[in-house]
Amino acid sequence: MAQPGAVCEPINFDPLVMVEVIDPTDDPILLFRSPAYAASFGKRLSRQ
Ligand code: HEM
Repeated sequence: MAQPGAVCEPINFDPLVMVEVIDPTDDPILLFRSPAYAASFGKRLSRQ
């Protein structure tokens, strides 16, 4: 049986992916999260 949460592993939880009616602020910390989550996503996929 698959590990709990395994279904989430191939998803990049990019905090800048938002529904159309919500726009991100220009907060640099928020904007920097996108590449950080992408790097983490790549590492997660490459160890599978
Ligand atoms: C308001 C600030 C933040 C909130 C609310 C937040 C929230 C979260 C949450 C809920 C997760 C998922 C944890 C899980 O998988 O169980 C996460 C993961 C992560 N966060 Fe943040 N975070 C914040 C700021 C940041 C910042 C500033 C960075 C780096 C610049 C960052 C980098 C990451 C990374 C790399 C992951 C792992 C993503 C993945 O592998 O899918 N976060 N964060």
